[in-house]
Amino acid sequence: MKHAGIGSILRIDSSARQADSVSRDLGDEVVRRLQAGSPGASVVSLDLGPGMPHIDHDWVTANLTPAEQRSPQQRERLTASDQAVSALQRADAVVLTVPVYNFSVPSVLKAWIDHVCRAGLTFRYTPNGPQGLLADRPVYLVMASGGVPLGSAVDFASGYLRQVFRFLGIEDVRLVGAERVAADPAAARESALTALDQWLPEPTGAAA
Ligand SMILES: Cc1cc2nc3c(=O)[nH]c(=O)nc-3n(C[C@H](O)[C@H](O)[C@H](O)COP(=O)(O)O)c2cc1C
Repeated sequence: MKHAGIGSILRIDSSARQADSVSRDLGDEVVRRLQAGSPGASVVSLDLGPGMPHIDHDWVTANLTPAEQRSPQQRERLTASDQAVSALQRADAVVLTVPVYNFSVPSVLKAWIDHVCRAGLTFRYTPNGPQGLLADRPVYLVMASGGVPLGSAVDFASGYLRQVFRFLGIEDVRLVGAERVAADPAAARESALTALDQWLPEPTGAAA
């Protein structure tokens, strides 16, 4: 599969772990293949692992205030959120790495989601319901779970993330799942790479 036109990749990691993280390791592989298919594509990295501030009262008030009426302090309060939205808007492809934590997503990722779901900016309300305002683009959703089968009734992460992206206008979510790592880490990685092969086959002539 060719990926002509991918100029910029937004990579978002959310595991609290660094070196031993299965999801980050697979994220490296996704980025490597994307860059192999689109030489010169840049990567903007956002590491949520060390922490992500939560929205608070002042943030919500600023966000609900029409943009042209915001005070300098309110504009300042939304700066980090504006930057997160802008990074998402500019990306031709997104690589999001996510461990399952307590049946759902890490709280730092939920905090990031709260910052990028902005009425009037990334979605809007219409008489027919909400409408996403982001252009569709591939999102490589790289997930790792210890014991939960992805897509099962107790996986409250993958369906939730698909819904969030759909809500923002992004339908093209491509799951690369290493599920049940605790049971068989090698098999989990192998099945994630098999899924990745469907989206991004190893470029011809590249080293394995
Ligand atoms: C705080 C915490 C909560 C977890 N909760 C779950 C869970 O509910 N279900 C599950 O299958 N695995 C759970 N796990 C296991 C992780 O999903 C698994 O170790 C995964 O590989 C973590 O991703 P990482 O390797 O990228 O850090 C949990 C791990 C941690 C640290």
